[in-house]
Amino acid sequence: MHPNHLRALAAALATLASAVTLSAVQPAITMTPFGTLRDGRAAQLYTLANSHGAKVAITNYGGIVTRILVPDRDGNLADIALGYDTLAAYEKDGATTGTYFGALIGRYGNRIARGQFTLDGKTFKLAANNTPGGIPCALHGGKVGFDKVLWDAAPLVEKDAAGLRLRHLSKDGEEGYPGNLDVTVTYWLTDKNELRIEYLATTDKATPVNLTNHSYFNLRGEGSGTILDHVLTLNASRYTPVDKGLIPTGQLAPVAGTPFDFTKPHAIGGRIETQNEQLLFGGGYDHNWLIDRGSAKSRALVKAAEVYEPVTGRVLEVLTEEPAVQFYCGNFLDGKNAGKSKIAYKKRTGLCLETQHSPDSPNQPAFPSTILRPGERYETATVYRFSAR
Ligand code: GLA
Repeated sequence: MHPNHLRALAAALATLASAVTLSAVQPAITMTPFGTLRDGRAAQLYTLANSHGAKVAITNYGGIVTRILVPDRDGNLADIALGYDTLAAYEKDGATTGTYFGALIGRYGNRIARGQFTLDGKTFKLAANNTPGGIPCALHGGKVGFDKVLWDAAPLVEKDAAGLRLRHLSKDGEEGYPGNLDVTVTYWLTDKNELRIEYLATTDKATPVNLTNHSYFNLRGEGSGTILDHVLTLNASRYTPVDKGLIPTGQLAPVAGTPFDFTKPHAIGGRIETQNEQLLFGGGYDHNWLIDRGSAKSRALVKAAEVYEPVTGRVLEVLTEEPAVQFYCGNFLDGKNAGKSKIAYKKRTGLCLETQHSPDSPNQPAFPSTILRPGERYETATVYRFSAR
């Protein structure tokens, strides 16, 4: 064949190939069965893909993010979210260990002292499902929190994002909380390699609401060792010290001069063994930092955290409308939970950055209020942005 013809043919083939690739890489969502719950109801697994090949898998059981596939600095994808490969393993979790891998957390994310609060003169009792330091408290919504309910799900596809809208009606009195709470959470995987989570709730009686997501990240890939060499920056000059039951003392303490100062990047393991009462209580980092929001408006996304993993170059940025973030470095992981790759998740092999209001806010009048009243809308968003350098 004449070289000119060959070149023309090659060009035509290249155009065809790019057209095929283009049409194959639009944001998309697929649904596959994820198994059956003990009560016989079927759960689904939704896989969101963006046009760069990043993927996020979410089940409507607990709104759990089961997989997050994002590239390293050489473009290699790895699953950086801790989790299980079966629905049964998620359903069983919590009976003993309570990892809350990837789950939506509500009605109240984090702890409420003694499992009770008083609202408009009435005292509400919650299940005390957690006992750090031997002291009972309510944790993450109770015995059957939002991590253990089957959400209604609707897939969404936009030009530059694939999404999943989840809905749950939390009944008046459920887990001891007042009011019918209508909750909608929408996950988006955008073409900017962001996992965006939008929370919306309305109620017919005043109730505390504090929703979050409990994903554990290991930016080298789940099952590849500890996160102690991940480098963390927190845009926070204050945190809420806790008592030995992990309940805030009420103090908003400066981080300056303490191992809690991540205003400049620090390896997570760098100061974790320091003799420090707070690190002792938490068994490591398991605390709530108040994000320096400056003059940002309440519904503005402000950068709360950045995590850098030196081997793969992966970066996670966390942006949120929330006032605080719980940084928990997986201190309670004990190797009893074998994950997706059948590798046991040992202590500190994943880290959480749970955006939220501070723990025990319903009992802490000085903290920003978490009370939602009839006629109001609870609306907030958080973005987990992935990149590499
Ligand atoms: C939260 C808490 C931790 C722990 C985990 C779940 O992040 O802050 O103390 O209970 O959930 O294991």
